[in-house]
Amino acid sequence: MGFRIRKMGFYLWVCFSLLCYSLSFVSSQTEGDTTVEGTVFIDGKAPIATIDDDFICATLDWWPPEKCDYGTCSWGLAGLLNLDLSNNIFLNAIKAFSPLKIRLGGTLQDKVIYDTSDNQEPCTSFVKNTSEMFGFTQGCLPLNRWDELNAFFEKAGAKIIFGLNALVGRSIKSDGSAVGAWNYTNAESFIRYTVEKNYTIHGWELGNELCGSGVGTRVTANLYAADTAALQSIVQNIYRDVDLKPLVIAPGGFYDSNWFKEFIDKTTKSLDVVTHHIYNLGPGVDEHLVEKILNPSVLDGESRTFSGLHNIIKNSTTSATAWVGEAGGAYNSGHNLVTNAFVFSFWYLDQLGMASKYDTKTYCRQSLIGGNYGLLNTTTFVPNPDYYSALLWHRLMGRNVLSTSFAGTKKIRSYTHCAKQSVSLVLQLASRYMNNYQLRISNMVNFHLGTVERVKFGIPRTLCQSVWMLHSGKLL
Ligand SMILES: *[C@@H]1O[C@H](CO)[C@@H](O)[C@H](O)[C@H]1NC(C)=O
Ligand SMILES: *[C@@H]1O[C@H](CO)[C@@H](O)[C@H](O)[C@H]1NC(C)=O
Ligand SMILES: *[C@@H]1O[C@H](CO)[C@@H](O)[C@H](O)[C@H]1NC(C)=O
Ligand SMILES: *[C@@H]1O[C@H](CO)[C@@H](O)[C@H](O)[C@H]1NC(C)=O
Ligand SMILES: *[C@@H]1O[C@H](CO)[C@@H](O)[C@H](O)[C@H]1NC(C)=O
Repeated sequence: MGFRIRKMGFYLWVCFSLLCYSLSFVSSQTEGDTTVEGTVFIDGKAPIATIDDDFICATLDWWPPEKCDYGTCSWGLAGLLNLDLSNNIFLNAIKAFSPLKIRLGGTLQDKVIYDTSDNQEPCTSFVKNTSEMFGFTQGCLPLNRWDELNAFFEKAGAKIIFGLNALVGRSIKSDGSAVGAWNYTNAESFIRYTVEKNYTIHGWELGNELCGSGVGTRVTANLYAADTAALQSIVQNIYRDVDLKPLVIAPGGFYDSNWFKEFIDKTTKSLDVVTHHIYNLGPGVDEHLVEKILNPSVLDGESRTFSGLHNIIKNSTTSATAWVGEAGGAYNSGHNLVTNAFVFSFWYLDQLGMASKYDTKTYCRQSLIGGNYGLLNTTTFVPNPDYYSALLWHRLMGRNVLSTSFAGTKKIRSYTHCAKQSVSLVLQLASRYMNNYQLRISNMVNFHLGTVERVKFGIPRTLCQSVWMLHSGKLL
């Protein structure tokens, strides 16, 4: 690994209670030899956005052990068909969130068939074949595996979002587009089986990365809207005697303003959640990922997507809300010792803050386990640093998001929410330049400042690409 980082800082959460409208405080940090001062302005009059209580979500993918990128095979037995469901570290890691949302899906979801009674084909796993789209043949989910997964999710208290195969029945034209209506026979019987077994599914999501210009192939917004209406009608029918109705979610792909606008306008009666994916750092093989993660203008770039989607939703009569359905930062499975190391929290925490600011209700991290971007180690299930970032966020950051701005260096990222547990605010500051920080809170208006509590996570700069994390000097 060839990265050298001169300095690596901290993320800092400041919790304080107050009864006030606005405040500002001054923080200064030493950058090299000079001290830089900045002021954080928080407007506490009214929230600018609201997130779900269970905003934190992570994904499980279908990739088999044979999935390799640039010569590295990073999935091991972390795929849905192979995952060890008897591992206690895994169980407890999920339980700690009570609940963690988990989205099941990914590239191969549009090649999965379900072994319900209508299925005529043998139920076999994916087989590597480079001439096939996505590099693998069709694979099959056996019902006994689906039973095991559901037993595990119930024990772990997870809320499941299941990504359905949206390519069944379509044919792929020579220009790369997929045409013809979605054949939902297999999906319908799979949903019916799930309901008969009393498994609780939080949401059914249609398709993976088929919107806009698509990955592998693409489906037009008009056709996708018709298929989403079909999914909603299947769901309404199957769940008619069930009290808890699942969400109808789509399209689970990359944001494209024209495609999303048309889709959202045509699904005002059928769609509950509009999902988009984020891989804004480029391919995992990139040798300059660390520089990108620490570059404020790269981080800021994603705000165009968030605000674009937010405006489309605001402008539409839809009642659908936006989620990030899958975000791994660097595509093709991430990069070992970057997207699973301490340094990646500078991207991840910034994403969580930015998504919240634009009223994104839920954010699914690729991945809970598997690839080089897992919250958990692929072989040992031991938490990587971002697991702790996710857990801290989940415990501290409440639903109401407050307008926060920082006058000073762009290298300090600041986000404020009302706290989860009490009448207080949580300000999240993250910067690699916060080695020697001072935080001075100044009483700008008449407010009562209660206890100030700081939670600081850091790592000695030499270990920034390590997978450890320190909390108050103690190794986690
Ligand atoms: C791989 O897929 C192609 C196209 O579907 C097929 O013609 C070929 O026989 C497959 N190769 C193997 C080894 O199965
Ligand atoms: C849809 O797929 C099923 C097999 O799952 C098949 O029996 C049926 O004929 C297909 N429907 C259409 C309209 O092609
Ligand atoms: C599902 O729940 C219903 C009502 O609570 C019950 O009658 C039925 O036996 C349950 N089915 C299974 C497969 O557990
Ligand atoms: C929102 O609607 C207004 C008025 O119809 C229009 O001018 C504007 O371009 C729309 N914005 C988006 C993002 O669709
Ligand atoms: C995951 O654990 C294995 C076994 O302890 C170790 O070799 C590997 O380096 C770990 N991976 C990461 C990213 O920490």
